[in-house]
Amino acid sequence: MNNPFIITGSIPEKYFCGRREESKKVIQTLSNGGNLCLISPRRMGKSKLIYFCYDKPECTDNYYTFYIDILHTSSLREFTYVFGQRVFDLLHSKSQKMLTAFVRGLKSINAKFGFDPMNNMPTFSLELGDISRPEFTLAEIFNCLEKADRPCVVAFDEFQQITRYPEKNIEALLRSYIQHLSNVHFIFAGSERHLVTEMFLSSARPFYNSTSVLELQPIAEEEYIPFVCHWFRAFERSMGESDVRKIYDLFDGNTYYMQKTFHEAFINTPVGSICTAEILRQTIGAMLEEAGDGYRLILSRVPERQKELLYAVAAEGKARKIMSVDFIRKYSLASSSAVQAASRKLMELDLLTVEGNVYSIPDMLLRMYLQKLRENSIVFI
Ligand SMILES: Nc1ncnc2c1ncn2[C@@H]1O[C@H](COP(=O)(O)OP(=O)(O)OP(=O)(O)O)[C@@H](O)[C@H]1O
Ligand SMILES: [Mg+2]
Repeated sequence: MNNPFIITGSIPEKYFCGRREESKKVIQTLSNGGNLCLISPRRMGKSKLIYFCYDKPECTDNYYTFYIDILHTSSLREFTYVFGQRVFDLLHSKSQKMLTAFVRGLKSINAKFGFDPMNNMPTFSLELGDISRPEFTLAEIFNCLEKADRPCVVAFDEFQQITRYPEKNIEALLRSYIQHLSNVHFIFAGSERHLVTEMFLSSARPFYNSTSVLELQPIAEEEYIPFVCHWFRAFERSMGESDVRKIYDLFDGNTYYMQKTFHEAFINTPVGSICTAEILRQTIGAMLEEAGDGYRLILSRVPERQKELLYAVAAEGKARKIMSVDFIRKYSLASSSAVQAASRKLMELDLLTVEGNVYSIPDMLLRMYLQKLRENSIVFI
């Protein structure tokens, strides 16, 4: 069945809600030769926005566009490997001439490429272990892009991951390469706010002041509500504005959870009928149930001290002054130093986030799940 609320895979333009201003800003920044840092809480739509921009004719017609998700990488070597692989894949499909130049340019590893005699093309049969001097290989990749016959856009998604690599000075190393490139423009996207903000907005760090910063906000209510109602109507169902608003408020405008809710609710609403608040309630109940196994596994690995804090923050929703006497007494926590240590650990695990002095649980559904465990039943909407 056709479902207009897409939660996996690529989103055709008509099902892509809003973000017109943001994509304009992305494309403008890049075409003016700048680099961009894209920040938002989890699942607000960063990655899809990058793809959306890449698919615009301004990008497809003028640039080589590379998208590299580095969330799963854990060293400079792996970073270089994934980057090289992505560049190879794209050039393979776009330009044989560039591909040949690329393979030749990678002197530090070019003996390691395979060759496909059928179509006379090199193959990427490299292993991670083939990269013995990642900083050389990386310089060679950048060099090749710098000499490409079109300007290049490189998006590193989940860029905060580089702060976890064991090597020192990765930021300085990357920055030193990047600042000399004029044919390559970068998008650095990241979701762990404290890491990304530090990296780009703290004057002591190499990337300070090197990019424009775009903080992706929730899609505006005025855009999202009509979008949902329109698509229910277009598929001969109906949906009340005030119910969409309730879901919007419930998830604080988190794109993924709203889309997931309406994706499921759409399935649960027969043709010719109304999607009622009751259907929405059941849908969210099922989502909580479905996520439950995963959440239980996560919680089973969180030590008690940290878990106490997690419950306390979930109960507050947005928690201020978590190290204050009042907060500690209210939730029977151990001490302010214990809270401090626990919050640091939880932030490393991305289970807790802080903005200003306000702590919250970034995964809205997990927040609801914890509230439900604590109170046994909660009223969503
Ligand atoms: N403009 C949009 N219109 C409709 N759906 C969208 C839009 N943007 C994002 N989505 C949906 O929201 C979900 C999250 O989007 P995306 O993966 O881009 O977020 P993200 O910020 O990159 O998340 P993460 O922090 O987990 O990497 C996806 O399932 C996608 O389908
Ligand atoms: Mg993403």
